[in-house]
Amino acid sequence: MRIVHLSDIHVWRYTFNPLRILNKRAIGMAGLVLRRARKFRLERLRAVVDRVLSLDADHILITGDLTTTALTAEFRDARSALADLLVDPARATVIPGNHDRYTTGSVRRQHFETWFGDFGPSRTYPWLRPLDDHTAILGLDATRSHISATGRLPSDQLAAARALVEDADRHPERLIIACHYPVAAPPTYAAELDHKRMKNAPEVRSWLAGIGPHLFCCGHVHAAWAFVPPDVPNQLCLNAGAPLLRDRTGLRPPGFLEIVLHDRDVSVIHHAWSGTEWTMKPLWQDPQFFPPDAISAEVSQHVETGP
Ligand SMILES: [Fe+2]
Ligand SMILES: [Fe+2]
Repeated sequence: MRIVHLSDIHVWRYTFNPLRILNKRAIGMAGLVLRRARKFRLERLRAVVDRVLSLDADHILITGDLTTTALTAEFRDARSALADLLVDPARATVIPGNHDRYTTGSVRRQHFETWFGDFGPSRTYPWLRPLDDHTAILGLDATRSHISATGRLPSDQLAAARALVEDADRHPERLIIACHYPVAAPPTYAAELDHKRMKNAPEVRSWLAGIGPHLFCCGHVHAAWAFVPPDVPNQLCLNAGAPLLRDRTGLRPPGFLEIVLHDRDVSVIHHAWSGTEWTMKPLWQDPQFFPPDAISAEVSQHVETGP
């Protein structure tokens, strides 16, 4: 199974009503959009979509921050620009990021759900979405409409997620958790995550440390990584980075992840735009990441259906 993981596209648009600029929050939003316009190269989005299409993935996973200030115009632009990746709702999963819940009005009017609600099994979280007989995505939403970029996984959502994962009949051999907020970051990015962290990450980490091997697909910090958090040694945390980022440092090449699952094996490749060409950097390879049950089930299936 081949999964393309994208995140933090951050479509932005100058669509400010002069009357609303009198509102203090709107001034903040205008400043944010101006900063994002310098930071994210929208003109690159078509090339990113074409690159993803060329991989012919079984599933596309987008882990939030499709927009900048959750305006209808931004959602409309994002939906339209990504249309070729979202032809079949059965083959695409989209969850929100904090920027997709930027204002209380956007939450009340369900902007995210209106434009991307078709790409998940439910509009309330958590949910478990099977991709095949062995693989499922657990969707979590730790976003909140809040002036700061911090998040929190609500306690009732955490309790429901525990129950979903503990249900032996539903627990897949290959579990992929999709959540905009990482619960840990590699040392290079720890300080950056700290000021916009999931507030109850310690509690969530202690739960995750006991659920067995899983992939944790996230974004929020605009840098691609694959790492195993020391507190959650059974987790492979995957951040897709930001595909349109104007990378002035050369340290955060903009792109996305290609995740290939085969039996117990996980391999992760970062596709990045160097400024002149696409590059492919292997980030992770583990032939025995998932438990032996996963391989035995698939092998027996191959034997049954083989020539
Ligand atoms: Fe972001
Ligand atoms: Fe974010």
